[in-house]
Amino acid sequence: MTVLKNQSSGTTRHSSGRSSPTSDLSHEVEKPRRQFRGLRIVQTLMMMIWCFQTVLLFIAHLVLSDWAPAAPPTQNSFFYGDYLNESGNNELHFIGMKLYVDSAEQSVLSVRGGNATLQCRFWYEPVPSSPREVRVKWSWLPAAGGQETDVIVAFGTRFRSFGDFRGRVQLRQDFPGDAALVLNKLWLNDTGRYRCTVVDGLEDQSAVVHLELQGVVFPYQHPHGRYHLSFLGAQQACKEQDSTVATITQLFQCWKEGMNWCNAGWLADGTVQYPITQSREPCGGARLAPGVRRYDRLHLYPNHYDVFCFSSLLQGRVYYLQSSHKMNLTEAQHACQEDGAEIAKVGQLYSAWKFTGLDRCDAGWLADGSVRYPITRPRSNCGPSEPGVRSFGFPPPQHKHGVYCYKLDTERV
Ligand SMILES: *[C@@H]1O[C@H](CO)[C@@H](O)[C@H](O)[C@H]1NC(C)=O
Ligand SMILES: *[C@@H]1O[C@H](CO)[C@@H](O)[C@H](O)[C@H]1NC(C)=O
Ligand SMILES: *[C@@H]1O[C@H](CO)[C@@H](O)[C@H](O)[C@H]1NC(C)=O
Ligand SMILES: *[C@@H]1O[C@H](CO)[C@@H](O)[C@H](O)[C@H]1NC(C)=O
Repeated sequence: MTVLKNQSSGTTRHSSGRSSPTSDLSHEVEKPRRQFRGLRIVQTLMMMIWCFQTVLLFIAHLVLSDWAPAAPPTQNSFFYGDYLNESGNNELHFIGMKLYVDSAEQSVLSVRGGNATLQCRFWYEPVPSSPREVRVKWSWLPAAGGQETDVIVAFGTRFRSFGDFRGRVQLRQDFPGDAALVLNKLWLNDTGRYRCTVVDGLEDQSAVVHLELQGVVFPYQHPHGRYHLSFLGAQQACKEQDSTVATITQLFQCWKEGMNWCNAGWLADGTVQYPITQSREPCGGARLAPGVRRYDRLHLYPNHYDVFCFSSLLQGRVYYLQSSHKMNLTEAQHACQEDGAEIAKVGQLYSAWKFTGLDRCDAGWLADGSVRYPITRPRSNCGPSEPGVRSFGFPPPQHKHGVYCYKLDTERV
């Protein structure tokens, strides 16, 4: 999102009188270095596991070599055991079949309101003589963190969906072994890790698919200025602006696209971070490498920050209302209503800018009382040389400006 770069320079608001970023942000720990250290720990662990495994395999070899030469040493393989045969005998029958589960895609990208198909298929080797009854379960670990929850459970043709997924999900079952999950009418907060588990008797295997949405991340401040949002306040603020608190993945993607923002903001997992592409003294020091930086000293400062919100494709459209005169905030709200629309929210303006290329060099009121305008083709007298949504902050409501409206219908003006 190169377009957000230098966005602060398009803002006429200042944080004068508030603490400077230098004093606030100089203590944060740099993310890339932490990851590197984590990598070394993982490497050491893997080395230890490998050594341990080798010793185990050696012992197993000594013990088993006489009587179980057929046992393959590979991981993830097992022999399927039938515990009751049809005549009801309690014998253990090793039938030598292995269950496999995999997904053709590790990650899927969709948009808000769209559909997504998360691939999953299972099969046996060798192929069984008759079809087997399995239970398929999809569960979800939200990108925002929290507990893994059930999405759908299916046995044969019967299935049951859970929680917020009720009525929005089904199992595809297009061919034998197909266990793909079809999600309809995606919400902004549906992103995360989905796990497909196939259960046959006492055995189960699973595969994992990540769901991401195409969207736009924008930094958001409270009308009173910088660092006025608690975590709950941040969630509320994003929701009111037709968006949701961004995840670290979404912010990281944005940083890769060039976002440079010197104010720390809440993320969905409750951490506070900020993306820096050009290191400089007031943003945690000029010597730190560029990256998404984590603000680690939450307990030392009041728990109030800005927030990074995430929004995705819009169903309706956002437009600048043609009007013969400028309006104060209340007049602007009424003008949109008279046009069969409503005053646009910040997330809607960002989505229209990002997905439909909305470009308008006229400042207009938005629902939160801020005044902004979207530029996709930078030109003189329309702010900085980078595309972006320019902000005039929150002017007094009696000031006169244009207005951006939002209408759900899809017809063109
Ligand atoms: C079940 O076990 C009985 C007794 O061991 C055997 O005669 C029969 O063939 C087995 N049935 C199947 C389907 O394996
Ligand atoms: C999503 O799926 C539903 C039902 O399967 C279909 O009616 C709708 O057109 C699909 N939407 C999109 C955007 O593909
Ligand atoms: C996710 O978004 C939907 C619709 O926007 C909302 O109703 C639901 O409460 C949200 N769920 C969570 C866990 O935030
Ligand atoms: C906007 O102007 C109208 C008169 O047209 C006035 O009644 C209203 O109080 C004004 N609102 C604000 C917020 O200044």
